[in-house]
Amino acid sequence: MNRILAVHSSPRGERSHSRRLAEVFLDACLAAHPGAELTRREVGRGFIPHVNEAFVAAAFYPQPASRPLSMQADLALSDVLVDEVLGHELLVISAPMYNFSVPSGLKAWIDQIVRMGRTFDIIEDNGIAQYQPLVWGKRAVIITSRGGHGFGPEGPNAAFNHADTLLRTALGFIGIEDISVVAAEGEESDNQAFQASCVAAERQLRVLAEQLR
Ligand SMILES: Cc1cc2nc3c(=O)[nH]c(=O)nc-3n(C[C@H](O)[C@H](O)[C@H](O)COP(=O)(O)O)c2cc1C
Repeated sequence: MNRILAVHSSPRGERSHSRRLAEVFLDACLAAHPGAELTRREVGRGFIPHVNEAFVAAAFYPQPASRPLSMQADLALSDVLVDEVLGHELLVISAPMYNFSVPSGLKAWIDQIVRMGRTFDIIEDNGIAQYQPLVWGKRAVIITSRGGHGFGPEGPNAAFNHADTLLRTALGFIGIEDISVVAAEGEESDNQAFQASCVAAERQLRVLAEQLR
């Protein structure tokens, strides 16, 4: 575990709990794995463009090897973001829950890194298109903060949690299936309960950092 890519998606800066928890985890990782390199990608306070028509035409161009220069330019940022994912062993995503899903900047980032021919492929099997992941040997840690309660797998609001499922599905689709989710819940309610949830999340993150190999 030498290279860590941290993707931060809260539009908040110092007031962001998901960012603060991510720093706890990253500090613990760097302490437990001296020599590990950390790269950061800002998608919450920086601009990641939405997919547009030019992007779709370029990404699904039938002969990628002879893609025209203008199309290569349309994919330039996507190529950088894909290279970042491919060039790191551990992906750390910090994300608030927004309207039961992830902030739009993080969704835009996902749309840029799920790329045919780069992170997944489609192969024909008896005339039926099959998806094939192209990313191997990586793991991801998702660090999230939620205003409400009960969005964990056994919680009463689990069915409303489209954030974890989106990230697990999209990352799994490209081949990253070793995924841990650590959450703090309840920012919008009782402060004491939220603080306790943050302390529990920090403990979990420190243990996880020690366990990473
Ligand atoms: C636009 C917006 C939408 C939100 N939607 C939800 C939601 O669906 N469920 C929830 O539990 N909290 C929701 N929240 C609360 C945030 O998840 C919570 O404040 C979280 O701690 C923010 O993360 P951050 O501190 O890293 O910015 C929402 C907050 C905002 C600003």
